[in-house]
Amino acid sequence: MLLLTILLSCDKEEGPTAPPIETPEEEVPADLTIKEKAKFNIGSATTTAALKEPAYTSTLKKHFNQVTAEYEMKMAHIWSSSTSYSWDKADELVNFAKENNLEMHGHTLLWYKSFPGWFTSANYDSVSFENKVKTYITAVVSRYKGTAISWDVANEIFNDNGSLRVDDAVYVTFKDPVAFYGRCFQYARDADPAAKLFYNDYRIALSGGKRYAVKQMVERFKREGFPIDGIGDQFHTLVSSGLASMKSGLKDLATTGLLIHISELDIRVNVNKSDNYVFSTSEQQKQADFYKAIVEMFEELPQAQKFAITTWGVTDKNTWLSDWWHPKEYPLLFDKNFQKKKAYDGFLEGLN
Ligand code: XIL
Repeated sequence: MLLLTILLSCDKEEGPTAPPIETPEEEVPADLTIKEKAKFNIGSATTTAALKEPAYTSTLKKHFNQVTAEYEMKMAHIWSSSTSYSWDKADELVNFAKENNLEMHGHTLLWYKSFPGWFTSANYDSVSFENKVKTYITAVVSRYKGTAISWDVANEIFNDNGSLRVDDAVYVTFKDPVAFYGRCFQYARDADPAAKLFYNDYRIALSGGKRYAVKQMVERFKREGFPIDGIGDQFHTLVSSGLASMKSGLKDLATTGLLIHISELDIRVNVNKSDNYVFSTSEQQKQADFYKAIVEMFEELPQAQKFAITTWGVTDKNTWLSDWWHPKEYPLLFDKNFQKKKAYDGFLEGLN
């Protein structure tokens, strides 16, 4: 035994030179995902139905670190009657976010399109209207306190020209609708003082009139002591939209000093709603370049004001645009088989 040990150890010393131990090469980062590369949150709208599909949830968890409810946290979905709430779906989304370390952005406490039927048909006077809404905001924001770290308090109150929407129950009920919205921001603040509170709307960067109205509202809130932390511009765009005016508009919006959220990004390619549309390689590239340009314009904002970029869905398989725009529409970062599109690479390249 002793001999064998000696022989073996001799063998070792006299054997052929062992290959040199590999020196570890410089750690080359494997393909970074958008959430890994970005210095701000990357969000997606989601639904409880979509979460049932494993390929969907794994894509969501791998590439995004924030979620928002595509519709299940809107008033008409939660506020089932004047004395009851339906929390199930909203709870499911919030629990999913919590369990998977995703930040939850609440969307949206108020939206003219989402007052429940029982509420609008009650024709409340302004005092009852506000008491009811205050109770609602307090209930929702308190329930998700600490998990929904930010909220869209009000959504789409202005027309593109900056006038208030007349088809808003708030407009019909209050002499000074903006002051009512200001008080609603305060109710949300009282329910969760740490939550970041946003005003959300579409085409703010592109429509000068709307942008002016939003900035005026922010000024007024500051003057009159109503809380507001950020502005979300939805960015439901078309590849044909004017990038230069979007960029200057976004920069102008940031002069408010508030957090800026590109809150519902998707980029339509079938601009003419054509039944014969083909999402060809060149169309895919055009969309990728557009994603890149949008991410780049966001990156040009002051770092402290970059809240998040949220895409309005994960995959072209489930996008609201299939119904609302055209069945042949491909607006998101992943294709129907959860493969990264050129759009994804464009987004990634646009990040600093
Ligand atoms: C849309 C959802 O995507 C749809 O599923 C729902 O039926 C209607 O609302 N602006 C918004 C979003 O602020 O809440 C809207 O979401 C899209 C436009």
